[in-house]
Amino acid sequence: MEERIVSQEAHRDDDYAESSIRPVDFKQYIGQQKVKENLKIFIEAAKLREECLDHVLLYGPPGLGKTTLAMIIANEMQVNIRTTSGPAIEKPGDLAAVLTALEPGDVLFIDEIHRLPRSVEEVLYPAMEDYCIDIIIGKEATARSVRLDLPPFTLVGATTRAGMLSSPLRDRFGVHARLEYYNETELADIVYRSGNLMGVSVEEEAALELARRSRGTPRIANRLLRRVRDFAQVKGSDGINSLLCQDALEKLQVDRLGLDEIDHKLLVNIIEKFRGGPVGIEALAAAIGEEATTLEDVYEPYLMQIGFVVRTPRGRMVTEQVYEYLGMEVPDRG
Ligand SMILES: Nc1ncnc2c1ncn2[C@@H]1O[C@H](COP(=O)(O)OP(=O)(O)OP(=O)(O)O)[C@@H](O)[C@H]1O
Ligand SMILES: [Mg+2]
Repeated sequence: MEERIVSQEAHRDDDYAESSIRPVDFKQYIGQQKVKENLKIFIEAAKLREECLDHVLLYGPPGLGKTTLAMIIANEMQVNIRTTSGPAIEKPGDLAAVLTALEPGDVLFIDEIHRLPRSVEEVLYPAMEDYCIDIIIGKEATARSVRLDLPPFTLVGATTRAGMLSSPLRDRFGVHARLEYYNETELADIVYRSGNLMGVSVEEEAALELARRSRGTPRIANRLLRRVRDFAQVKGSDGINSLLCQDALEKLQVDRLGLDEIDHKLLVNIIEKFRGGPVGIEALAAAIGEEATTLEDVYEPYLMQIGFVVRTPRGRMVTEQVYEYLGMEVPDRG
């Protein structure tokens, strides 16, 4: 799949470009008020007890700040963070190696934790509950199980698919934090802050314009800002104003709601080929030449989030707003 400028998933160059603007403490982490307030209290309490923080599960759509928050947790706890991911841990032995290398109090961050193999998950249970693991030593007839103590640690798991986590694993996290899409003001603050760190001044109206087109997602806001900055630079403009912003985003084919040509194609297809729906996901996928799962995981969520597409028992439908948005006449559906 080609890289869409409005995709929530990280592009190859995102993380590199963002390393200098990633917030490092709660003060810099904009929005997510409820999650932040709770975590602050849990962290303070853990520090007062001189214990490590309870295990934390972070979940929510891509690009909303899960990895960033994991790093902030470690930073606020003043401990080290070790980072790995579900797919990187293939065997129980891989996890044992990671766990036995931890220092007391460390944060172990497992990204995409829903992708841990079941056999590895089972090693994680006693590690999370009792800070110990059972490992098998020797082969066949002489094999025996040995219990190893681990230092106390905090597991921070992140997932975009909380529903795919097994319930025994989910239940072992004391803290569950769901990240929400950001509102316009919060995204404008993020754009403003990032602009400062990148050494480019962003006018308030321009920051809001970028915010509106960022699909509630800081990663997209920062990416759009970087692209618009390129336009500013080439035009010899030292700041980013609203006009320059609109012009650049038009050239980047990101419309005023942050929709791109793929979104438009999807909406127009539902309208023109299926009379606005309802249409089954498979039929729709075939019509636009995509996998049904891509449609569900990548294309649909934002369109549903803004109320453009709804799921009904008989399939997907576009709402009346879409006709207005595309400048089409609302059909009489009787
Ligand atoms: N609350 C925030 N305030 C300011 N910037 C943020 C915030 N949350 C995220 N960002 C910015 O957005 C970028 C993407 O965030 P991050 O990598 O933490 O997302 P993620 O949820 O881990 O995504 P994925 O699911 O793809 O791993 C970060 O590099 C950071 O600069
Ligand atoms: Mg991440």
